[in-house]
Amino acid sequence: MEQQTKSTLSMRDISIEFPGVKALSNVDFDMESGKIYALVGANGAGKSSLMKVLSGVNNHYTGQVLINGKEVEIRSPKAAKELGIEIVYQEVDVALTPTLSAAENIMTNVLVNKMGKKQFVNWNFIRSAAKEALGRLGVDIDVKRPVSDLSLAEKQMVLLASAARERCKFLVLDEPTAPLSNTETENLFKVVRYLAKEENVGIVFISHRLAELFEICEHITIMRDAQVVKDMNITPDLTIKQIVEYMLGRTFDEVYEKKNVPIGDVVLELDGLTEENERIKKINLKVKRGEIVGIAGLVGAGKTELCKTIFGAYRSSAGTVKLNGKDIMARSPFQAVQYGLALVPEERRKEGVIVVDPVYANITIAALYKFLNKIQFVVKRRQLEAAGKMIQDLGIRTPSESQILANLSGGNQQKVVVGKWLVSNAEVYIFDEPTKGVDVGAKHDIFKLIEDLAAQGKGIIYASCEFSEIMAIADRAYIMYDGSIVKEVNVSESNEKELLYYSTGGN
Ligand SMILES: Nc1ncnc2c1ncn2[C@@H]1O[C@H](COP(=O)(O)OP(=O)(O)OP(=O)(O)O)[C@@H](O)[C@H]1O
Ligand SMILES: [Mg+2]
Repeated sequence: MEQQTKSTLSMRDISIEFPGVKALSNVDFDMESGKIYALVGANGAGKSSLMKVLSGVNNHYTGQVLINGKEVEIRSPKAAKELGIEIVYQEVDVALTPTLSAAENIMTNVLVNKMGKKQFVNWNFIRSAAKEALGRLGVDIDVKRPVSDLSLAEKQMVLLASAARERCKFLVLDEPTAPLSNTETENLFKVVRYLAKEENVGIVFISHRLAELFEICEHITIMRDAQVVKDMNITPDLTIKQIVEYMLGRTFDEVYEKKNVPIGDVVLELDGLTEENERIKKINLKVKRGEIVGIAGLVGAGKTELCKTIFGAYRSSAGTVKLNGKDIMARSPFQAVQYGLALVPEERRKEGVIVVDPVYANITIAALYKFLNKIQFVVKRRQLEAAGKMIQDLGIRTPSESQILANLSGGNQQKVVVGKWLVSNAEVYIFDEPTKGVDVGAKHDIFKLIEDLAAQGKGIIYASCEFSEIMAIADRAYIMYDGSIVKEVNVSESNEKELLYYSTGGN
């Protein structure tokens, strides 16, 4: 192997402002090649903003960036690439061209350089080079497949292969594991370790799943309110509790204290519900008023399909759905809302919100009827009021109700999606992985609001692959495996191990 030389990258006194927001305030950050660094902080702390300075997107920063001690200017994504810096954003879909093959996506740079130069494109070379780039990471994907056919984890690998092919020195991964299953996460870690140890890449790893940082990172930087508040090596005596306290700036008990809510009559009942493509089969399930019913299952077990079939987004081919004893079968989400159902969907950026609209419009859109006056005009003042309350309750970090949603940090966008459905007035609320990308403090705020709904006599379905969350908030839980419910448990008599056992096909 070639002699590995050490490269260093230093950010000095970096500040950046957006209208009404100081996103970074005099931040220092250091890294060197071959090492894996954790970057953590509450939603809106400034993690993505800092990394977007490195990737050339936030090009109006002040301060200095030095590579190997020499000052560099990163004023465009192209400049970042030329300096050997690559970033994989959380929205992998945005970064890829879905209609093109994996090979074309991995080789984009080579192809772009040929454009307009009347140069011959050697497709055999493109495919074999793409295949080699994936192979180097130990990944086997048919490079001729269009990217739109790939799973999320595979898309990530395509992006990583593309970054690694550029022989980058520094690589940033912004919340790569949020949508991944445990096995997919392990695979990603293998690739990340390989890149650090064998290819000498310096890697920054952002995540809200704090436990996993201990597995692959050797150093941690903790941000709070646009600043770095702590920066240290990860040693065996460091605890998650300590990290969370630096993040939030206060002591925080990770254990959630569940309130006792009286449980009433059955409000929702499914009998033999089957989705038309059998993505879920013969689902029997009951939800009572005031009850929080967990749907536990691994990624791909059918939780989302179940939620969407109840909500009319997917068609059913058999079975019934009863609300308050009355047969309903929503043929569309619109109808489901009219019946009194609400769904907080999993893929927020695709279906949950309209990112170009302001925060207040997003929060109030699902219950617009509440904000009409006598002559059916929407009263903006009332919308702003309702949005203001939700911003308070969920601790949404935004300079105002009128901020464009796209300008909020990832986790704060997720809080808006949740808030949007909390404003509506439904009988049954379905939450599909509502805490993805949300920090630990905000997670408890969301739990509290869900409990308030239960206390008002609403029925709650809470689908999650984070079994600790099911244990923390649900009264009863159904465990899904391969599109079916395989087990029902009383949460107070169960534990995470049991959920894992049944959700991996144990019987
Ligand atoms: N383009 C932008 N325009 C306006 N404000 C922005 C923009 N980008 C980021 N911000 C603001 O800067 C702050 C920091 O956001 P950032 O995305 O860096 O947070 P984060 O630490 O990555 O949070 P999360 O964990 O939720 O992803 C937030 O208040 C955010 O709303
Ligand atoms: Mg972010």
